[in-house]
Amino acid sequence: MNMQKQRTVLVTGAAGGMCRGINARLGAAGHMVLCADLSLEAAETAAGTVREAGGRAEAFAVDVTDHDSVAALADSVHDRVGEIDVLINAAGILDRKYLKDHDASSFERTIDINLVGPFRLIQRFAPDMVERAWGRIINISSIAGVTGYPYPSYAASKGGLSNLTRSLVIDMWGTGVTVNSICPGVVDTPMVIQEVRDQVPRKVPTEQIIDPDEIGGVALFLISDDAKNINGADILVDGGATRFFQLFDRQ
Ligand SMILES: NC(=O)c1ccc[n+]([C@@H]2O[C@H](COP(=O)([O-])OP(=O)(O)OC[C@H]3O[C@@H](n4cnc5c(N)ncnc54)[C@H](O)[C@@H]3O)[C@@H](O)[C@H]2O)c1
Repeated sequence: MNMQKQRTVLVTGAAGGMCRGINARLGAAGHMVLCADLSLEAAETAAGTVREAGGRAEAFAVDVTDHDSVAALADSVHDRVGEIDVLINAAGILDRKYLKDHDASSFERTIDINLVGPFRLIQRFAPDMVERAWGRIINISSIAGVTGYPYPSYAASKGGLSNLTRSLVIDMWGTGVTVNSICPGVVDTPMVIQEVRDQVPRKVPTEQIIDPDEIGGVALFLISDDAKNINGADILVDGGATRFFQLFDRQ
């Protein structure tokens, strides 16, 4: 892989299951990873994973739903590290509610974390990337961003995030900044309940649950120079699950 420079990468939701793989892969490649999550303690643990893998890391607390918290994050990143090259928006929640179970505020909460959160981070950090004529924005969307999904708040948030990604390539036209979504299927993290894990052999053509490390590998590729013309993409990492017409189960 054509990886010329070590980058400074800000990751939100860095203490989560998916980011275990992202942190380890970025660390092993020698990147500086700024691990941001709700709790500073959890972010510190994530930063430890990066260091163990051979990279440099700093930990930050942030609540992506809070404009002031995102502003404070930007200030402390600037003071402690300087500019970032890459933003990975991974903070997210999955609220397993059907339409009838939602009230307006529970629906809005998912949208606020999964969609408005990335928007806040991008709005705050993209201008510096534009000024320096290089940047990579990676939004962790989902297969729920490209197909229908049982839980409407999650589907709406990830569909919005994937479409935000597509739309931002226009904003970033000619700036050297690319914007892409990674759309994972069933990844081995605490977010995935046993019932879904059990269905993997029948619902996923590769018959495999995805290792967070594989998502890290895709993120690593996206920030390499080989990926400089991948822009506005939904990169499915789902074992082919969304390509399988599930009207009936495979016998
Ligand atoms: N696990 C999967 O199978 C899967 C599949 C597709 C997409 N995703 C997406 O991947 C991302 C990571 O998921 P995961 O499986 O690691 O889940 P996770 O619950 O393990 O991690 C999510 C992280 O986001 C953080 N977070 C939540 N709200 C926040 C807020 N307001 N501000 C800052 N941080 C906040 C949490 O503290 C947590 O560390 C999510 O966006 C999720 O929707 C996961």
